[in-house]
Amino acid sequence: MGDRNPMGRMSAWLRDAWRAGGTGGLNWHLHAATSQQRWRGTQEAIDRALARVQPTQRQLLLIGGSAGWMMSTAWLSCFERVDVIDIDPLAPWLFGRRHGPALKRAGVQWQFHRQDGIAGLPGLLREFPQAFVWFDNVLGQLRYRLDDEAALERQLGQLQHWLLGRAWGSVHDLLSGPIAHDLPAAVMPLCQSAERAESPPEGGVHYRVNRRLTSLDALGQQLLQGVDAEGIWQDHCTGVVFPNGTAVQFIPWCFKPRYCHWLELGWIRS
Ligand SMILES: C[S@@+](CC[C@H](N)C(=O)[O-])C[C@H]1O[C@@H](n2cnc3c(N)ncnc32)[C@H](O)[C@@H]1O
Repeated sequence: MGDRNPMGRMSAWLRDAWRAGGTGGLNWHLHAATSQQRWRGTQEAIDRALARVQPTQRQLLLIGGSAGWMMSTAWLSCFERVDVIDIDPLAPWLFGRRHGPALKRAGVQWQFHRQDGIAGLPGLLREFPQAFVWFDNVLGQLRYRLDDEAALERQLGQLQHWLLGRAWGSVHDLLSGPIAHDLPAAVMPLCQSAERAESPPEGGVHYRVNRRLTSLDALGQQLLQGVDAEGIWQDHCTGVVFPNGTAVQFIPWCFKPRYCHWLELGWIRS
């Protein structure tokens, strides 16, 4: 990545191997490896949602793929080629251990690219013009790097314009915070469907839930009640990611004991 000075490159490598922008690296892998049982229900809900994403593209550009701790091997196996983009230098080894054997059996070629998949997205879209693009739990993480909410929403809202005409999708954090009790093992009954709707004249992100126009604030309150939220929750500002008309699913994720994330998952055919 960018730095020509060997010491600078080494320190960037170590920083990314340890925390990768605060959301990956060894920290993430240790947490993910020890949380698999608690995450199982959420992984199943993601697997089911991905099974309905049947792109015609044979190539997948997986941004923020890491080791694919929450990714469905069956879905990856639908492609002929998978290109994983992540800043974490530990990701390729762990991705290979987790998904490599099954991908090899299915005849899927995969390759890792250590680079910034958000800032570098326009270049990646040119480099992989035929690929289906999947943001794998990475867009909600920008919240940890950028405090300025308006700037963050501008950056996240820009992505759909870069992706115009492309088939793409994302699963990302929408809201996160403490909960009174851990979630049940099966989270499917808690999941909710909606459609991203046009904003009314007064503005603000809106969804259509059972045909009723609902603001993200009101919907967020319902989601929080659904998981017995308590204390202060964080808005990841990702309500602006999907274009109007996108069907989305909200999936709860007990990220750590008594701490939950609401994920938003959706995709656009092209
Ligand atoms: C919450 S983890 C999710 C990882 C992966 N989807 C999984 O299920 O294991 C977020 C990942 O995004 C990566 N990441 C963060 N910012 C990135 C960027 N700008 N470009 C590429 N990867 C990034 C981190 O290194 C980390 O691996």
